[in-house]
Amino acid sequence: MIEQPNIEGYGPYYTKYNEQTYILKHPLLQHKLTSIRSVETNTDMFRRIVREIGTVMAVELTRHLPIKNKSVETPLAQMFAPTLDCKKLCLAPIMRAGMGLSEGFSDIIPLARIGHIGVYRDHETLQPKEYFCKMPGNLDQRLIILIDPMLATGGSASAAISMLKNRGAATIIFANMVAAPEGIDRVTKEHPDVTIYTIAVDECLDENAYIVPGLGDAGDRTYGTR
Ligand code: PRP
Ligand code: URA
Repeated sequence: MIEQPNIEGYGPYYTKYNEQTYILKHPLLQHKLTSIRSVETNTDMFRRIVREIGTVMAVELTRHLPIKNKSVETPLAQMFAPTLDCKKLCLAPIMRAGMGLSEGFSDIIPLARIGHIGVYRDHETLQPKEYFCKMPGNLDQRLIILIDPMLATGGSASAAISMLKNRGAATIIFANMVAAPEGIDRVTKEHPDVTIYTIAVDECLDENAYIVPGLGDAGDRTYGTR
């Protein structure tokens, strides 16, 4: 089984928000997030930049992965060289908006398994509605990266984490781009064993539970729906 990351040694890369939440400081992430916050950014650019963000996040979130040496034959000599020492990761995007971000992750972790989680937020009640879940096997042995760009009330993320745990998941980290304090508090309370990584913690939620200032509706901006 792969362990939750011990990231105490990676101080320069993160700002600690609470005991289990880290804000990624990489300038490329900060810059790209600002670009997609802009109302001027169209669907094409939005989708492209979200994918790029996913790739940089993937690098940041996998710093702690275990490695071992294996024998490899180069054109010139035999040597022992580092290779990953864990079962294939599982990327778990929450549909829809998580899929755009997860493409960037799978660009750089192409062998990762991908499980899809269908949860949407009911517009009237703001409660999460589960409609789909298809996961790879041996979930208990994999590092699972739950992926969703937005953490607002935390209802969707918390429901998705429960869905993963009910299917045997043991080690889950949650990657998102913009978080509201309310959502972090909820996931932290309901799932104290899940590490959260975000790029920004915004001010608050509005009366419709949208993150302010946020970036609007991530699903609609990714897919051009409204
Ligand atoms: C968005 C977002 C999260 C959820 C966050 O999805 O991608 O899944 O809202 O809100 P919460 O923290 O209050 O639950 P949405 O429900 O709009 O579905 P979509 O991706 O299909 O548009
Ligand atoms: N879902 C979004 O896509 N955006 C928000 O601000 C809140 C929930």
